[in-house]
Amino acid sequence: MRILGMVFAIFSSALLCAAPLSPKTTAELIEKATLAQKKAYPPYSHYYVGAALLTKSGKIFTGCNVENASYGLTICAERTAVFKAISEGEKDIEAIVVITKDGGMPCGACRQVLNEFNPQMIVIAADEQGKIHFEKPLSHLLPSAFGPANLEELR
Ligand code: THU
Repeated sequence: MRILGMVFAIFSSALLCAAPLSPKTTAELIEKATLAQKKAYPPYSHYYVGAALLTKSGKIFTGCNVENASYGLTICAERTAVFKAISEGEKDIEAIVVITKDGGMPCGACRQVLNEFNPQMIVIAADEQGKIHFEKPLSHLLPSAFGPANLEELR
């Protein structure tokens, strides 16, 4: 019984591990995130960010940062893309690509929002030339995360 439990644990953790993206899928996400970056509205920071996420069903949702004169109301590109996906009924996020001029990383708030939907999703940070600066599962960017499991028994 104990051995069975161990086998199950190994099998389920293997299932949770993020599958690598194919070069074709990566290229498509980079292309869509780059297009989204051009739609950004950053009149204050002038830092253009585009994002494209892939769902398990194969759909791609894009987002850009949208700044506001009341600075704190600014929304990042990653969260724009996540909220678009969720509002369309797509919760299983497999990967997200973020494009900036310097290959900048997702901010802490976006990491937490992404964690809600899949700690093992692949996060790719690339620059405007399509050069990948970072590619790893989200759990590397937000280890020991607080998440839905913490509230499980309260439901
Ligand atoms: N920004 C994002 O869109 N995503 C991030 O993960 C980091 C920051 C945006 C917010 C703001 O419009 C600009 O970049 C500068 O902080």
